[in-house]
Amino acid sequence: MTKIAVITGSIREGSYNQMLAKLAIAQLEAHGAEVTEIDLATFDLPLYSAAIEANDFPQDALRLKQLLTEQDGLLVVSPEYNGSIPPLLKNAIDWASRPTGDEGLVALTAYRGKAAAIMSASLSPFGGLRGLMHLREILTTIQMVVIPDQVVIPAAHAAYDSDGQLKEELPATLISIATARLIKVAAALND
Ligand code: FNR
Repeated sequence: MTKIAVITGSIREGSYNQMLAKLAIAQLEAHGAEVTEIDLATFDLPLYSAAIEANDFPQDALRLKQLLTEQDGLLVVSPEYNGSIPPLLKNAIDWASRPTGDEGLVALTAYRGKAAAIMSASLSPFGGLRGLMHLREILTTIQMVVIPDQVVIPAAHAAYDSDGQLKEELPATLISIATARLIKVAAALND
């Protein structure tokens, strides 16, 4: 079974991106993936510093890196903050990118050669599109293969019904297509 981790760049109660992640997880599972949800609220990650890294590498950074290393692929669902990705998410990505043990500087064992997909919900009419452009570039830099499909949910405050389902059919269909493609590419790259 293809293993996909889902990480969300918001830990806000009532987060529209967490709602989107839930819908994507349901689709990933419907398409046959084994999903691991990574809740950043449960990781104690200080803001990355070389001194902390050298003296006391955080246990939760190791735990996050280990979790990601075990996966075949990654779905990142994140809000856009001022045209980019939230520091919560960037900090987590950065910690898990660091070499540990005997690894070389650019080992990137949690990420290298694995498939990724990106999605965003935001209040704006653009649905976090600018943040996704940065996110795509970051994930590519850490050697992930980011699939072309991506999902944006504009005006997220009005996009969901009271059951947390999307009112519009099109974005729901795009979630299904993107999650299916992510699994397919993740499995192919893992061959
Ligand atoms: C935002 N928001 C935002 N939205 C957007 O579409 N483009 C942007 O550049 C920004 N910038 C931004 C910066 C900061 C610091 C905050 C706190 C918020 C609004 C954002 O879309 C909104 O808060 C979402 O509700 C955040 O996602 P969650 O927490 O609902 O998942």
